Amino acid sequence: MGKGKGFYTMQQKKDDSIRLGIIGSSWISCEMIRGAKSTGFFTLEAVYSRTKERAESFAREQGALHTFTSLQEMAASPLLDAVYIASPNVCHVEQCRLFLQNGKHVLCEKPLAARGQEVMELQKLAREKGVIYMEAIMMLHLPWREKLRRAVRQIGPISLAKFDFCQYSSKYDGFLQGRHQNIFDPAMETGALMDLGVYTVYPALWLFGEPMGVTAAANFLPGGADGSGTATLLYPDKLVVLTYSKTGASHTGGEIVGEKGTIHLPSISTLLGMALYRRGKEPEFLSGQEEKYRLMGYEARQFAQWINEGPDEAYEDASRLAVQVALLLHQIRRMAGIHFAGDETEQLEKPMQPSK
Ligand SMILES: NC(=O)c1ccc[n+]([C@@H]2O[C@H](COP(=O)([O-])OP(=O)(O)OC[C@H]3O[C@@H](n4cnc5c(N)ncnc54)[C@H](OP(=O)(O)O)[C@@H]3O)[C@@H](O)[C@H]2O)c1
Repeated sequence: MGKGKGFYTMQQKKDDSIRLGIIGSSWISCEMIRGAKSTGFFTLEAVYSRTKERAESFAREQGALHTFTSLQEMAASPLLDAVYIASPNVCHVEQCRLFLQNGKHVLCEKPLAARGQEVMELQKLAREKGVIYMEAIMMLHLPWREKLRRAVRQIGPISLAKFDFCQYSSKYDGFLQGRHQNIFDPAMETGALMDLGVYTVYPALWLFGEPMGVTAAANFLPGGADGSGTATLLYPDKLVVLTYSKTGASHTGGEIVGEKGTIHLPSISTLLGMALYRRGKEPEFLSGQEEKYRLMGYEARQFAQWINEGPDEAYEDASRLAVQVALLLHQIRRMAGIHFAGDETEQLEKPMQPSK
C-alpha cells in the first residue's frame, strides 16, 4: 500500500475529511461519533440501522446526512470512505468483509472475530483492497500506554501479573428477569470473555508476548453464556492471571508484580489511574482521568492517520497483535468450554491442550 495522499483514493470528496458511516445505534456508537468528530478528521456522513425509524432518529440525534437500512447499499455507496462497526460480535466478520470488499476502511469494535483465522482472512482482504482494517481497542492507542511499558521495565523481573475486568453488567438485571439480552446470548458470540476478557488478553500479549501455555475456566449462566471466568497464561518466568466477570464488580483492579516494585492498574481497558510503586520510593501516578469519548478519540485519530498516510510499522504491529488476541481468545474458549455455533466441529470435539 502506498503512503501519503495517494493512498486516499475515494471519489466525490468535498474536503480532506474522512466520510464516516456508522453501524450500530447504541451508546457506544454515540461515544465513537463524539470522539471521531473531536479529532477534526471525520464527518459523520451516514448511519445504518435495521429499521428506517431508528436510522432516521439516530441520524437526527447525531447529525448524520444520510441513512441506510441496507448494508449492501451502504457498503457500495460512493458517499462513504470508512465505517465504524459496533454491532453484536457475531455480525463483525460478515460486515467487515462486506465493507472491505467494497474498498471501505473499517474500524470494528472488539472483538474483531471469534476465531483467529477470520481475522487473518480479513487482514489479507484489506491488504488486497488497499484499505485499513483495525480493531477498536482503546488501550493500544492511548498516549500513556508507553508509560506502562516503561514502568514494567523499571520494576522487572516480573513474576506475576493480574489483569482484571469485572463489571456488573447494566443488562444483567434484565437477563435475570428473563429478558433477552444480546450480551448474554452465545448466538451473538458474546459473554464475559469476549466482552471484557478481551481487554485483559490485549495487555498480556502486548507486554509479554505469546504464552507457552494456557489454562482457563468459566462460570456459565442459564442459556450457555459465560458470566465470568479466569485464564492463566504460563510463561517461562512468570504467570499472568486474567479475571473477568459481567455478573459482579471488582474494586481492586489489576497489578503487575516485579522484584523492584508493583504497578497498580485500576482500569485495564483505559489504563487510567495507573500507579507505580517502586520499592523504597514514593508512589508515582502514571495516568489521570479522561472522558470516554476522548479515549475513543485516540483510536479514531489513529484510524484517520492510517487512512491518510497509509499503514506503518505500528499498523503492522497492531494487526499482528489482533491476530494473536483472536487466537488466544479462541484457545481460552476451547479450554473453558465456551462454544459458539460458528466453531469448527473438530474443535468442539477435541479441546486444545496447552501448548508447550
Ligand atoms: N469499546 C467499548 O468500550 C465498547 C463498549 C460497549 C460495546 N462495545 C462493542 O460494541 C459492539 C456492540 O455492543 P452493544 O452492547 O452496543 O451491542 P447491542 O446493543 O446488542 O447492539 C448494537 C447495535 O446493533 C444492532 N443490533 C442489535 N441486535 C442485533 C442483531 N441481532 N443483529 C444485528 N444487529 C443488531 C442495533 O442497532 P440497530 O437496531 O440500529 O440496527 C444495536 O444498536 C460489541 O462488539 C461490543 O463488544 C465496545
